[in-house]
Amino acid sequence: MNCTSSLSLTTKRLAGKVAIVTGGASGIGSSTSKLFVQNGAKVIIADIQENLGQSLCQEIGENGDVSYVHCDVTNDKDVQNVIDFSMSKYGKLDIMYNNAGVTGNLDPTILATSNENFKRVFDVNVYGGFLGAKHAARVMIPAKKGVILFTSSISSVCCGESPHAYTMSKHAVVGLMKNLCVELGQHGIRVNCISPCAISTPLLRNGMGKDKDFVENVVYESANLKGAVPQPEDVAEAAVYLGSDESKYVSGVNLLVDGGYTTTNQSFSKVLQKLMSP
Ligand SMILES: NC(=O)c1ccc[n+]([C@@H]2O[C@H](COP(=O)([O-])OP(=O)(O)OC[C@H]3O[C@@H](n4cnc5c(N)ncnc54)[C@H](O)[C@@H]3O)[C@@H](O)[C@H]2O)c1
Repeated sequence: MNCTSSLSLTTKRLAGKVAIVTGGASGIGSSTSKLFVQNGAKVIIADIQENLGQSLCQEIGENGDVSYVHCDVTNDKDVQNVIDFSMSKYGKLDIMYNNAGVTGNLDPTILATSNENFKRVFDVNVYGGFLGAKHAARVMIPAKKGVILFTSSISSVCCGESPHAYTMSKHAVVGLMKNLCVELGQHGIRVNCISPCAISTPLLRNGMGKDKDFVENVVYESANLKGAVPQPEDVAEAAVYLGSDESKYVSGVNLLVDGGYTTTNQSFSKVLQKLMSP
């Protein structure tokens, strides 16, 4: 479906580019879809949330440059279909952003991790990204150019704060990104990951069963970088950079958008401070 609105920016960093954003109906994907459009891209929102996808399309679309296509990333035919949609509508695909993801059960213990939950998390986060990359490569290799992006997570770097299945899946996404970077670099295709810290999106709010203020407060208090609360738009800015020609020689990178969270571990000094305080 195509829709119109009146968004415009003076600098169009993605002018003329065509992008698919999986999980584009909500949270990080929704913010990225908006920022991509503001920067001149044609965007295809690929998601399973029909109503959200359609209304976002109406909200941000301009001259038919935003479409919603139903796409379950775990379904090979759906993924094939969304790439084919891009080819038939625009004759190309410049940016494939494999962003859809789920946390699964948030209980961090291995004994509470059901096998079905484990498989589901891998199905969406890893197999879904694999299918997106595979079908994108099918059309990008002959074009000898393109950008494939993934959303991983700080869980790909820093362990012990997310459930096992989620942490493993986000490590796997980085492994896939790096392997693809080597193979597809030969064809002029760049492949990168973005790894956000905790951000108050429906994924995190629903998982924690808490509202925006509560989640943002936890994020802020536990953050390394003060003075700002991370937002989906911060991830979207990274996606615009990695999708644009500004990053034309950047490939194989897992770009952390975490305010330095994964750089530090102050457990020792904090315990010491507590023990030494009168
Ligand atoms: N929010 C955070 O704290 C955080 C931190 C690090 C990484 N991430 C990652 O960011 C990505 C986006 O998450 P978000 O926080 O914006 O969550 P969100 O729940 O707001 O958005 C995720 C979107 O993915 C879609 N989706 C889920 N399963 C799908 C499937 N099978 N096929 C197609 N679409 C599907 C959902 O419908 C939803 O629109 C995920 O990969 C997540 O793991 C999020």
